[in-house]
Amino acid sequence: MDQASRLRALIGGTHTPAADTGRAHPSADRSTNTCFIAVTRGKGGVGKTTVAVNTALLLAEQGARTLLVDADLGLANVDVMLGLDSSRHLGHLLLEDRGPEDVALEGPCSLTVISGGSGLRELADADRSQRALLLGKLREYYKRFDFVLIDTAPGIGEEVTDFLADAHRILLTTTVEPTALRDTYAATKTIRGRISGADPHLLVNMAASDAAAAEAVRALNHVAGKFLDYRYSNWHRIEPDPIVGKAISERRPLALTRPRSPAVVSLRRMIEALTEWSAPPAPSLVANGGRSVLAFKTS
Ligand SMILES: Nc1ncnc2c1ncn2[C@@H]1O[C@H](COP(=O)(O)OP(=O)(O)OP(=O)(O)O)[C@@H](O)[C@H]1O
Ligand SMILES: [Mg+2]
Repeated sequence: MDQASRLRALIGGTHTPAADTGRAHPSADRSTNTCFIAVTRGKGGVGKTTVAVNTALLLAEQGARTLLVDADLGLANVDVMLGLDSSRHLGHLLLEDRGPEDVALEGPCSLTVISGGSGLRELADADRSQRALLLGKLREYYKRFDFVLIDTAPGIGEEVTDFLADAHRILLTTTVEPTALRDTYAATKTIRGRISGADPHLLVNMAASDAAAAEAVRALNHVAGKFLDYRYSNWHRIEPDPIVGKAISERRPLALTRPRSPAVVSLRRMIEALTEWSAPPAPSLVANGGRSVLAFKTS
């Protein structure tokens, strides 16, 4: 089965990619088996946004209705990588009369983008009820898409875990450097502490070889096993690729301009591995010390 067939199988064959006009703004009445993928990281600058943007584009290019949300509070740069104007952004969803369709932008390949823009300070300062209002609007909107990718900020605040908790799959981006591994361990501890049963996939970015990536995963499994009684079930290696930096400078995403570059080939391989899921498990609310968080259903 090729990748396109797998994607279609995953999303239940419910859409027809050909002549699919208006795919960036799908209608409200569409109900799908939406897959939520959150891309996060421990240490800064390890390639999280590169992964989120290019993965979203590769999915959109396959004909999947795909939404990319920039929820990296403080370091929003999805719009920069995609060369989009960010005057409409996530922060505007805090306004009662504004909905996701009012702030969504159309990116390349009919990718729908909700920019982080400059509204992130407002979002960071928003209180719990305001955030709940915003997340409620987004959750309703997610249902229109086959894939929702979220570029989330790292950290332990509810403004971060609220976004992570919606995800069926968390992609935890790291490099093989000891400092990144230490921060990845810390992020794993936080994520598993807040989201019961979370099983983040490791994305080992810029690893020179499979052996180097496997060694980093072994080291992480050692420490996570010892202190968290947890082992990562899955990891993916993204190859180092000097062209990545050039694509960012040009504000032209790699997935479109250099489809055969090693980083894009690695991301395609990762998508193939991810889309071998059967239907993603539905998140369910569980109580956790008085807080409500989402967990994955095990059955
Ligand atoms: N596979 C790769 N090969 C080579 N360089 C890469 C690769 N992935 C990312 N980079 C480089 O790493 C830098 C950081 O990438 P990016 O902005 O995606 O990271 P980030 O984790 O989102 O950072 P931040 O913490 O600032 O949000 C960029 O300069 C980018 O060019
Ligand atoms: Mg980033």
